[in-house]
This record gives sequence, C-alpha cells and structure tokens, in this order.
Amino acid sequence: MNGRREGGCRWRAQGLPCAAVAVPLRKPSETSATRAAPLVRRAVPADLAALVELENASFSGDRLSLRQWKHHLDNPGAWILVAAQGGHAAGAAVVFFRSGSRVARLYSLAVATARRGRGLGTELLAAVERIARRRRCDRLRLEVRDDNAPAQRLYERHGYQRITRIERYYEDGADAWRYEKQLA
Ligand SMILES: CC(C)(COP(=O)(O)OP(=O)(O)OC[C@H]1O[C@@H](n2cnc3c(N)ncnc32)[C@H](O)[C@@H]1OP(=O)(O)O)[C@@H](O)C(=O)NCCC(=O)NCCS
Repeated sequence: MNGRREGGCRWRAQGLPCAAVAVPLRKPSETSATRAAPLVRRAVPADLAALVELENASFSGDRLSLRQWKHHLDNPGAWILVAAQGGHAAGAAVVFFRSGSRVARLYSLAVATARRGRGLGTELLAAVERIARRRRCDRLRLEVRDDNAPAQRLYERHGYQRITRIERYYEDGADAWRYEKQLA
C-alpha cells in the first residue's frame, strides 16, 4: 500500500461470536528460547495509542482514526493483532470475518519502520492465518496497492495469488491487486 490505503471499509464486517478470552497465538513448538521474539497477541484497549502511532507512521493517508480503532476493538467480527516487543506495539494486523462467509479479509498489516525486514510481517500474517483457520475460514483475501512491492513480495512468498486487479481502488486513484490464499 506504500503509505496510502482506502478510506474506511468498503466491505462491512458482520459480527460473529468470538471468544471472550485471549487466545494464545504462538505455535505450540515455540519455547522460551524464542522469548526475545515478538509476542503476537490480540489487541486490548491499552494498545490504542500505539496502534494510532503505528498507523500514522505506516500510512500517509486514509488512516484508521482512533475512533475506528476503538470500533474495531469492540467489533466481534474483527480481530486486531499486535506484535509486542519490549512492551511496544512493533506491528499490527486487522482481520475481518463475516457472518456466514468462509472468506476472511486481511484489512491492514503494518510493521514499525525500524522493525521491518526481520520477519515481523511474516509472523503477523501467520497468526492471522491461524485465527482464520480456527474460525473455519478456508480463504484469506486482501487488497494491496499495485505500487507496494514489499507487501506484494511478502504475500506472494507466503502463497497468496493475484485474483483480480481493481482499478482506482484507493482514494488517490491508485489501483489495487486483490490477493487470495486457500487456507484449507
Ligand atoms: C509490508 C510490511 C508489513 C512487511 O513487514 P516486515 O516485517 O518487513 O516483513 P518481513 O520481515 O516478514 O519480510 C520482509 C522482508 O524482510 C526479509 N526478512 C524476513 N525476516 C528476516 C530476517 N530475520 N532478517 C533479515 N531479513 C528478513 C524478508 O525476506 C523480506 O524480504 P524482501 O523484502 O526481499 O521480500 C512492512 O513493510 C510495512 O509495514 N509496510 C508499510 C505498510 C504496508 O504497506 N502494509 C501492507 C499493506 S497491504
């Protein structure tokens, strides 16, 4: 997306019942030896300020506002994941689930500039996929700007395939590629 993203959701998530307790997102194989690695967990209200900061640093326009972040936190059809490192939100992902649909939508993925290139984006993406599978989704979809090469490389490396190009998808007129990955 290279700094710009669509304003607001063009795809309205409808709530699905969601576990009220935190769900461990680490793979069982991970041990204390990997503790220095970021912990990917579900966001809580105390993360809101850091999420806004990360958003503002990662996207130059069409940013999610504090109000929108709050709304997504309260939305049972949305999951916000935070990659926490040393108590700080070094990365975040937002995924939406729609009632009656087996297609999950990755709405946002961002890693703090100073923490990029170390696998954080990969780790967040893997966590999103685990949650989507757990919610019985068999596909994950996302849109990415056609000029966002780093994000496209990340998705393609992890098995996402281009399914369609959407002209003038973004508010600034940029085109998007829609990607999809079969999870089943
Ligand atoms: C896209 C984005 C989320 C990727 O996050 P990231 O944490 O850098 O992703 P990863 O580290 O998992 O992978 C990125 C690169 O780092 C490399 N990498 C991964 N782990 C690494 C490690 N331990 N050491 C060195 N390099 C590593 C990957 O091979 C990859 O290389 P490539 O750019 O040549 O493909 C990040 O660039 C970002 O936030 N961009 C701005 C917001 C944005 O555009 N979001 C996407 C919207 S669709």
